[in-house]
Amino acid sequence: MTRLSAITPSGHAHAGNHLGALRHWARDGGPEDLYFVSDLHAMTQSYSPPRLRALTRELLAVLVAEGIAPERLCVQSDLVRELGALTWLLECVCSYGEAARMTQFKAKGDAAARLGLLTYPVLMAADILLQGAAEVPVGDDQLQHVELARSLARRFNSTYGEVFTVPRAVTPPTAARVRDLSAPDRKMSKSTRDAAGTVFLLDPPDLIRRKVARAVTDSSDHSAGVAYLPDERPGAANLIEIYAACAGVAPKEVEFGSYGELKSAVAEALVEELRPVRERVQELLADPGELDRIRADGAQRARERGAHRLSSALRLAGVG
Ligand code: TYM
Repeated sequence: MTRLSAITPSGHAHAGNHLGALRHWARDGGPEDLYFVSDLHAMTQSYSPPRLRALTRELLAVLVAEGIAPERLCVQSDLVRELGALTWLLECVCSYGEAARMTQFKAKGDAAARLGLLTYPVLMAADILLQGAAEVPVGDDQLQHVELARSLARRFNSTYGEVFTVPRAVTPPTAARVRDLSAPDRKMSKSTRDAAGTVFLLDPPDLIRRKVARAVTDSSDHSAGVAYLPDERPGAANLIEIYAACAGVAPKEVEFGSYGELKSAVAEALVEELRPVRERVQELLADPGELDRIRADGAQRARERGAHRLSSALRLAGVG
């Protein structure tokens, strides 16, 4: 069974990406899996081309450092021709209403928004369907997009003929939605303006400790002790979830006498969880040749794998 997922280089990778997605990609891997840096997705809002190139490289290094086998990696734009063609086919079975209903478009889309912000979930469907992926391991925020990919696969298959596997999303048992440490009403995000609430994968240990020490725990009345109450105390619940994900236990099993103790434990758990990834990324970035080789090999394999499905889809649709 093929599993496929990706990360967008719209900023530096953070602990939410790691706990909710990246670390699972390496763990339950099979030889047919494919993981990539979705650089085309980072173009839907104003961006700097040199920064995009640098972040794409950094995130490719992160995926290698996470322990994903190099032969399962690639960069999305190396398949831009194949994906462009398939995106068009899928846009022509997707309604405007379906695309406009996506939460991320509703949050950021206005008349001045780039058209790509509206259509990128269709590009994401193309990513998944081109490779025939059966499972898509993601955090909670991508569920709606995978649902769209399912709908488009079914619709194309029933309208023009069976060609696409209908994929299903797989979310992790804990940390599917890590929140911002200083604003727990928001998810932890790469593109945040205030980095105080985001623990980046490449943050040095002391910075991680400072960020966790300043995390919001919701209430000055701590008489209830450290309790896992996601609705009433989302900040504290977030810290408990982060700890639980690092320790490999359920949030309800986490017990600490005080918020101070909880915060020190979260900080140390995160430092140790992220340390090997940070150190390996630094080594990889110092050896540009290795990343170039991984990228070139991955591009060729992913293109070959998708070619047959793309030509069948074009033929069934009466073109190509
Ligand atoms: P992206 O780059 O926003 O996120 C990468 C992965 O990290 C997960 N994630 C989180 N998990 C827990 N807590 C958080 N705060 C958090 N923030 C992010 C995301 O759910 C995701 O799994 N459009 C996608 C990339 C993409 C893709 C694909 C994914 C492109 N093509 C095909 C799957 C299949 C994105 O921008 O993810």
